[in-house]
Amino acid sequence: MQDLKGKVAYITGGSKGIGYGVAQKLVAAGMKVAISGRTLKTVENAAQYLGDSKCVLALESDVTKLGDEKIAIKNILDKWGQVDVVLANAGVGHFAAVDELSEEQWHQMVNTNLNGVFHTLKASVEALKKSKGYYITLASLAGANFFATGAGYNATKFGVVGFTQAAMLDLRKYDVKVSTIMPGSVATFFNNHEPSEKDAWKIQPEDIGKLVLDLLKMHPRTLPSKIEVRPTRPDKK
Ligand SMILES: NC(=O)c1ccc[n+]([C@@H]2O[C@H](COP(=O)([O-])OP(=O)(O)OC[C@H]3O[C@@H](n4cnc5c(N)ncnc54)[C@H](OP(=O)(O)O)[C@@H]3O)[C@@H](O)[C@H]2O)c1
Repeated sequence: MQDLKGKVAYITGGSKGIGYGVAQKLVAAGMKVAISGRTLKTVENAAQYLGDSKCVLALESDVTKLGDEKIAIKNILDKWGQVDVVLANAGVGHFAAVDELSEEQWHQMVNTNLNGVFHTLKASVEALKKSKGYYITLASLAGANFFATGAGYNATKFGVVGFTQAAMLDLRKYDVKVSTIMPGSVATFFNNHEPSEKDAWKIQPEDIGKLVLDLLKMHPRTLPSKIEVRPTRPDKK
């Protein structure tokens, strides 16, 4: 996919944070980009800063619902006729010792971070086979390294890494590329964080955007299937 001009991308959870940062880079590269989130107003507010309606589409879709994701993909196909890139990025995190983690927090993480990436794939896979496209999940270094208070989040992100690697083996025979990106700390709104200048040491959302562009431009014969990415120098506490 070396010429990205006119290619169509769908980014779940593109209203802010990493998804929004990736959308900015893809639009700047000449792509048509649909972004989604749970409330249309929030997504529309974000979309207006990305570009006009010729190249940006705002969608309300809750990834915990397969039906929502199917409608999102249908809307993209109705507008642009193809889907070349899907970034399953929407995610939430609750951090508490396992004996204190609530059932609601557990289910929200599993339904969003794990069931969500399956729903997004299920809804888009036939379109991706047609376009010989690219499906990318946003996992985390928490998908390789477990930590105290991370039981729920770790469980979902280890799951996303395993899911994505197996999906890669299933889909490469259709020339569909599949990768997972596993970032360390990124300066976003994750877990009610407010990004500030104190986050300068962290990966910035646009850095993940640049990484996605590099993946898309990779030679068709080569597939970096699992990418760990971390701040070069961790925070000095
Ligand atoms: N920030 C980090 O340090 C970090 C590190 C590694 C991995 N990650 C992963 O990166 C991904 C993006 O997180 P972020 O850091 O950019 O967080 P963020 O700033 O909080 O953004 C999260 C995005 O996900 C959307 N979202 C949440 N639940 C959703 C649902 N059920 N359906 C659709 N959209 C939903 C939010 O949109 P609405 O609220 O508008 O619905 C928002 O656009 C997550 O999967 C996260 O686990 C983050």
